[in-house]
Amino acid sequence: MANPLAHIDIRTYANTCPRADALPAIQEGALTVRPVFQSADSSFGAEVSGIDWSNPIPADVVAQLVALQDRYAVLIFRQTGLDNARHIAFSQQLGEKLEINPFFYGRENDRLGEPLLFDVANIELDGSLVKLDSRRWHHSLGNALWHTDSTYHQQRSKYSILLSHGNPVHGGSWTHFADTRRAYADLPEEKKAQLEDLIVEHDLWHSRKLASPIVYGNPLPHELAAKPPAFHRLVQPAPDGRKTLYLAAHAKQIVGWSFEDSQKLIWELIDHCTQPQYVFSMEWLQGGDMVWWDNRQSMHRANPYTETMTARDVRRSTIIDDGPWAHGVRV
Ligand SMILES: [Fe+2]
Repeated sequence: MANPLAHIDIRTYANTCPRADALPAIQEGALTVRPVFQSADSSFGAEVSGIDWSNPIPADVVAQLVALQDRYAVLIFRQTGLDNARHIAFSQQLGEKLEINPFFYGRENDRLGEPLLFDVANIELDGSLVKLDSRRWHHSLGNALWHTDSTYHQQRSKYSILLSHGNPVHGGSWTHFADTRRAYADLPEEKKAQLEDLIVEHDLWHSRKLASPIVYGNPLPHELAAKPPAFHRLVQPAPDGRKTLYLAAHAKQIVGWSFEDSQKLIWELIDHCTQPQYVFSMEWLQGGDMVWWDNRQSMHRANPYTETMTARDVRRSTIIDDGPWAHGVRV
C-alpha cells in the first residue's frame, strides 16, 4: 500500500503549549492565566489554573471562563480529574445542547457508548489500537487536516472540549491550533473585499475524501444521509467583534464558483491561516488534561494515526451554537 499519510501534514510547530519561554502569568481573580500568544490587540491560547474541578463549576466562574474563551479562543486545563459525567456536565453549562454521536461504527462497538461524547481515541472496544487500514482508521485521517469541528452542520457547534484519560506517551501527543482572527486581520484589504460576501458549502465527506481518497471516494449511503452538507459565510464576526475566517478542510465549494477555483482559494486561505506565526502545538502531558476551543474563531488538527502510534485516550464533547450566526445560510 502507498503511504496513506504522504499528503497529510504531521509537523509539530515552533510555538508550543506549554511555552518553553513562559510569558508572565496573569491573575484573574482566583484564576491564573498563562497565555500562549499575547499582545495588546490579539491573544490566542492560554493555560488556565485555579479551578476546583471536583465540584460543579459556579455560574460566576463559568461566566469568567467564557470571557477568557472569547479572548483566547483556546483554553487548556491540566489534570482536571474529570470523568465522563462531569465532562458532560461542564459542557452543558456552556450551551443548551450538545452534539449527539452518530455512532458510524455501531453504538454496540463504541468504547464509551455515551451519545454526548465522541470517542476520538485510537483504541477499540477490546483495548487494542485501531487497526491499520480499517474504515475507522481512514475516517480519522481526516482529523489530521486543518479543520473546524462541525462546519458541515447547518446549525453549527461553537465549542469543542477534548479531555484526556490515562497518561499519553510523553513527547508524542499533540493537538495543533491556528488563530483565524489574526490571520484574517493580516490579509491585504483587496483580499478581504474579495472574501467578504462569499458563502461556502461544507461537507464532512469532502474532507474524508481528501484525507483518504480510496476508502472515502464514495461514502456509504447511510454516511451521506447522516451528514448532508451545510452552508456558512466565510467571513464572520468572532465573539469579540473582530472579523475571522470560518474555514475548514470540510470546505468544498464556494457558492457560484467552480469546484477547482473554490478549492484553490480555500486551501490558499487555510495555508495562510496555518503559517507558524498563527499556530501553536499543544502537548498532552497527563491524564485529565483538557482543551476547550472555540470553533467560531480557530482551526485545529490532530496528529494522524500512524503505524507506530501509541494509545491515546481522548474524548470530545461538542456544544451546539445558539448565537446569531449559528444556522448559517440557506441557499
Ligand atoms: Fe476536530
